[in-house]
Amino acid sequence: MAHSPATPLTAEPSARLSGTVRVPGDKSISHRALIFGALAVGETRITGLLEGADVLATAEAMRRLGADVERLADGSWSVHGVGVGGLREPEQPLDFGNSGTGVRLVMGLVAGHPITATFIGDASLSRRPMGRVIAPLTDMGATFHARAGGRLPLTLIGARRAMPIAYPLPVASAQVKSAVLLAGLNAPGQTTVIEATPTRDHTERMLKAFGADVQIETGPRGLLAIRLTGEPELKPCAITVPGDPSSAAFPVVAALLTPGSEIVVQGITLNPHRAGLYTTLKEMGGDIEVMNQREEGGEPVADLRVRASRLRGIEVPPERAASMIDEYPVLAVAAAFAEGTTKMLGIHELRVKESDRIAATASGLRANGIKVHESEDGMSVDGRGGAVAGAGHVATHMDHRIAMSFLVMGLAAQKPVTVDDATMIATSFPDFVPMMRGLGASFSGMGQ
Ligand code: S3P
Repeated sequence: MAHSPATPLTAEPSARLSGTVRVPGDKSISHRALIFGALAVGETRITGLLEGADVLATAEAMRRLGADVERLADGSWSVHGVGVGGLREPEQPLDFGNSGTGVRLVMGLVAGHPITATFIGDASLSRRPMGRVIAPLTDMGATFHARAGGRLPLTLIGARRAMPIAYPLPVASAQVKSAVLLAGLNAPGQTTVIEATPTRDHTERMLKAFGADVQIETGPRGLLAIRLTGEPELKPCAITVPGDPSSAAFPVVAALLTPGSEIVVQGITLNPHRAGLYTTLKEMGGDIEVMNQREEGGEPVADLRVRASRLRGIEVPPERAASMIDEYPVLAVAAAFAEGTTKMLGIHELRVKESDRIAATASGLRANGIKVHESEDGMSVDGRGGAVAGAGHVATHMDHRIAMSFLVMGLAAQKPVTVDDATMIATSFPDFVPMMRGLGASFSGMGQ
């Protein structure tokens, strides 16, 4: 995937934000909808699909693996699947761009099929560890030829006959859990994943919706065993993708920090394994009203009304980390405006995301006059109890969430904040800038 040249962007101190918005479809659910659609026999219809670069890369990979994937209208897609076991060997490498979720889930999918595929990605993805999926998928019978340290590019030779395994997750990762379950779909018998810390459960929910037999048992010390019976015939589904709580985090924090703001964000999933940021912001004193709670497409969904608030620093418990793992950079921005210190613990996984998010967040905060203490698996931010100074230039390290977090900071800071590259925002939230402008935000920069 060609990477466009870096485009700096500046967020200017803005007047109050107001209005009602919808954020794009959930990224995790969008990847999975395409993947399960590709494995079902018949037509899966998807509405509300996130059309960001990450998900479009997964759509293209599904085509190369033999599924018929078609865009019907904005967010409306049709997938004709090939059936479990029916994937075709791709003629060209599968390019996942910036997407860790896409590459790791599809490695699981391919590992269970007797085909060979090469996986490539951009510079950020090529630095990220793949050993966490290579290890269990090797146990299931796949073979890998990867760069040193288990990095991309890599070639995967899928199992001739995949073996089911029982796998205790060594890291709290929904991507690893999902990769093992996807490989287990084409293995005879039962594949089990054991989680010590529950992670997002979209794969389990969707497997059930497509007709697979998935049993979830709670064991001693809160361990969760997820048991999948292999070789099901997956039945096509109609999937409505709810709004992404990780994308909603940006307008929500912007409204909390920008004085006088009041916004409504409609239709986001508040799946308990995804909603940790909202619990945390409320504990910090954020005025967030959860409205119209309902269920859509097998996920709990709600609208949020958010009003500007004075926040106070808190200690975020480590056991909450998995439910807000992508939200720490924007939480750290909120913490910079809060009264007192915010401590974030148990967040070592942030070091292996699209960038080292502890390092990138800490240096972005320092560039804007905030004191931060960084440890191997934590970060604490000394809040200013009001508007931060701003005027910083922030290095985004090819990370969409670092870019959006610091643009949010600039809207509420005393002086503008500039990010070195806004292009990666298109991986998860292509309409971020126009949507924020619609709420009253001001941006300036190349091409804007
Ligand atoms: C995701 C899982 C998380 C998250 C990522 C999406 C998923 O990664 O950070 O953005 O869709 O399964 P890990 O599983 O590596 O924690």
